[in-house]
Amino acid sequence: MSNTIVIGAQWGDEGKGKIVDWLTESSDVVVRAQGGNNAGHTVISDGKEYILHLIPSGILWPGKLCVIGNGVVMDPEALLGEIDGLAEKGINVTPEQLRISDRAHLVMPYHREMDAYREASRGSGKIGTTKRGIGPTYGDKVDRVGFRLHDLVGDPVAFSERLYERVSSCNTLFESAGMETLDAEKIGKALLEASERLKPFVGDTVAELHEQMKAGKSMLFEGAQGTYLDIDQGTYPFVTSSNTTSGGACTGSGVPPHRIDKVVGVAKAYTTRVGAGPFPTQNDELAQRFHGMGREFGATTGRKRRCGWLDLVLLRYATMVNGFDDLAITIMDGLDEFAEIPICTHYELNGKRLDLPPASALEFDLVKPVYETLPGWQTDTTGIRKYEDLPDNAKAYIDRIEKETGANVSMVGIGPARDQTIMR
Ligand code: GDP
Ligand code: IMO
Ligand code: MG
Repeated sequence: MSNTIVIGAQWGDEGKGKIVDWLTESSDVVVRAQGGNNAGHTVISDGKEYILHLIPSGILWPGKLCVIGNGVVMDPEALLGEIDGLAEKGINVTPEQLRISDRAHLVMPYHREMDAYREASRGSGKIGTTKRGIGPTYGDKVDRVGFRLHDLVGDPVAFSERLYERVSSCNTLFESAGMETLDAEKIGKALLEASERLKPFVGDTVAELHEQMKAGKSMLFEGAQGTYLDIDQGTYPFVTSSNTTSGGACTGSGVPPHRIDKVVGVAKAYTTRVGAGPFPTQNDELAQRFHGMGREFGATTGRKRRCGWLDLVLLRYATMVNGFDDLAITIMDGLDEFAEIPICTHYELNGKRLDLPPASALEFDLVKPVYETLPGWQTDTTGIRKYEDLPDNAKAYIDRIEKETGANVSMVGIGPARDQTIMR
């Protein structure tokens, strides 16, 4: 038995889905513990592409238990759509295979409206959210006015009463903003219908996960988003609304920290970010090149991802706050063609050297990234399957990441397919 947390080390989309899929073979249970359907995790299995938003990537492996933990915010419509989409692709999601926490908060239609409204009213200070209602749902959770799944499936009458009150108070706000109001009855009816389908999946997943641990099963925690989108450790306020770092896996699942054996960070060999906010190593030429190749488009919203060079300042701090034992470096093949590859070793701000990120997003925007140029390998790595067979310069690139972070690079991605993963 061994329990592993997998966490994005940058701004999301590091290839966590692919790494989780790879590690699922040797695990029994795959858990999502935070975020919602703002996530988009791509897995290519048997030549077919799947993009998972709420359901753990482990669902693609028969016989693995998947859990949506208490820390996740769950949009019932989105979840049922995802279950139906998987069924169309031949993956039947059963209540034996997918368990959903009765304590998970519900993303409501008014949360999605609120998300869109707040973004529109932020003007040039937009966060660039996915508009899935994530921020307002976590806001209500912290404000103690949210709805949890047990409210919906456990007591539909009380649920409906409180829902009407909540919709009515949201409508007052929408009206004053000149927006269309919502029909509480329609929302309630749709949710109660969804509830009938969801009920068999819902339970006390904390108790269920502890049963699994007692039975000696191995668990994998599939982080969503990335370290710099963490509400505490990220580039606040340009972040998501959950703790995306490793601690979130425990609070969001009810599995205590001392039961965790390993934390694996996933980082691209370069850096990307979708949405607004600081990005010191951003490089528009690199973005154009990747976009021209049909790469680096968001898996959830289809937006173009901003692209830049590898930033060791980010990886250093991410290794600290998450406690990465291992790193998986993905999309090494994305750098195959370059003769020279700049990597950012530190920042400078007002003449001072920074080896770690600043707290303030304003300062983060002002830092000057200082680069060192490493020689490229100019070799197609996509067919390589053994670490020893990687070009020397690619190995030197990885050695440098290890030296700067102190984490062990144990996996290297050289293509999107399941078998394009090199174990070290
Ligand atoms: P996630 O949100 O962290 O799971 O990552 P996304 O799925 O949003 O984005 C990662 C993208 O990179 C997807 O299109 C993956 O198929 C792709 N990918 C993952 N690992 C590799 C790799 O090693 N090489 C290449 N070329 N693509 C990869
Ligand atoms: P995965 O799990 C990349 C970004 C949004 C926006 C900010 C806040 O696929 O790595 P939100 O809708 O969460 O309130 O948006 O966070 N964001 C992501 N970026 N990958 C993700 O998930 C993301 N989930 C949210 O673009 O900048
Ligand atoms: Mg993604």
